[in-house]
Amino acid sequence: MATEPLLDALSRTRGQLLDPEALVRAVASGRRKGQRIPHVQGREVRRVELRYVDLKAGRHLQVTSYDDTQAHTVNALAGPAAEAAVDQLLDEPFGNWHVETTTQTHQVRVTKKLEAAVSTQDRAEPVAADRGHDRDKQRLLAEDDPVLLALGISDAQGRIKPTRQAKYRQVEEFLRLLDASITDALDKGHLRRPTPQDPLRIVDLGCGNAYLTFAAHRFLTSTRSLPVRVTGVDVKQQSADHNAGVAQALGIEADFVVGTIASAELTAAPDVVLALHACDTATDDALARAVEWGAGLVLAAPCCHHDVAAQLRRSSTPSPYGLLTRHGILRERFADTLTDALRASILRLVGYRVDVVEFVESAHTPRNTLLRATSTGVREVRTDEGLRADYDELTTAWGVTPRLAELVGLHDA
Ligand SMILES: C[S@@+](CC[C@H](N)C(=O)[O-])C[C@H]1O[C@@H](n2cnc3c(N)ncnc32)[C@H](O)[C@@H]1O
Repeated sequence: MATEPLLDALSRTRGQLLDPEALVRAVASGRRKGQRIPHVQGREVRRVELRYVDLKAGRHLQVTSYDDTQAHTVNALAGPAAEAAVDQLLDEPFGNWHVETTTQTHQVRVTKKLEAAVSTQDRAEPVAADRGHDRDKQRLLAEDDPVLLALGISDAQGRIKPTRQAKYRQVEEFLRLLDASITDALDKGHLRRPTPQDPLRIVDLGCGNAYLTFAAHRFLTSTRSLPVRVTGVDVKQQSADHNAGVAQALGIEADFVVGTIASAELTAAPDVVLALHACDTATDDALARAVEWGAGLVLAAPCCHHDVAAQLRRSSTPSPYGLLTRHGILRERFADTLTDALRASILRLVGYRVDVVEFVESAHTPRNTLLRATSTGVREVRTDEGLRADYDELTTAWGVTPRLAELVGLHDA
């Protein structure tokens, strides 16, 4: 990536942010090395998203800032108010700016030397900006997107079918997380920058009918202008046949492999591993494969959790925690939490940074936890910071051996 003086790059970014016709969206994220965490309205923030919205009072720059737990949105009228808001944001020590316009995407990363590493990519074709202010209308895939038609989520008139509303909501929420995670992983160098010759390799393990595989491909290639090659893996031949037909109808190249998550052979190690609602320990198989491949980014939404629950039923509960497991329903819920907490710590122990976030709002489905892991590039098992001691104490106290620990050979280390 070319570098240039930071002020020059940020003054160009300012111009892009203050163009209410051309700006589609922009994201500021991360912080500069050795500097404080950026603030918005007195709060420390991890990320800020900007877009223009059309309100009754005219076009406004909408600024949504995210801290660890919440999003805050303010709208500034295009003109002096928007300029003031943008100038305040540009003064904050964000490490990265990602700006999408109707014709290009721009990336500015602040280097250790406080220079700007910049890259610009032209879109294959111009896109229209969505100026709707209703949060529900901030769609990442429009209802009439060809992918949603091909997947049977939308009808021939390009409207979401009433029976497919939940699936659409899941696809949208997943894309939102994928978008933020990929931006962050690219900015921090956990993912390499893909090229048309060497696209980002994404595998969806337990892909089923590949709703998320196709949605990810469409969103990343058309909205994010990222070269991407997707592969779906599922035990069902029927899924592979169906998905190959959808890929052909959409005119895209995608691979569908019939096989188990644990043993499927891929032609090259993937950069990104997705596993959404793969049953029980199939999620552990998926996480272990991601570790084996050294995937830069992993998004896994676990499904049912039987393995640890069965182990808890067999072992005696340490006092006073019997109060947690005395009632069947509470024991099952606790087993879910224990399983995912242990999965997150095992991934940390083998060199990943891990977040556990809400996927779809819990009002819509109880299976709404998502593990998001990015590789730190350190592959050996960590023994530092008491993490291993805490992990050992927890598993010993509860008498459980997580499947993922066996798969990644943690207990041999
Ligand atoms: C609940 S569906 C989820 C499908 C898709 N990921 C989604 O979210 O729409 C689970 C899928 O995982 C597949 N599956 C479960 N265990 C598997 C394994 N061990 N290896 C490969 N596929 C598996 C099933 O055949 C099924 O298609």
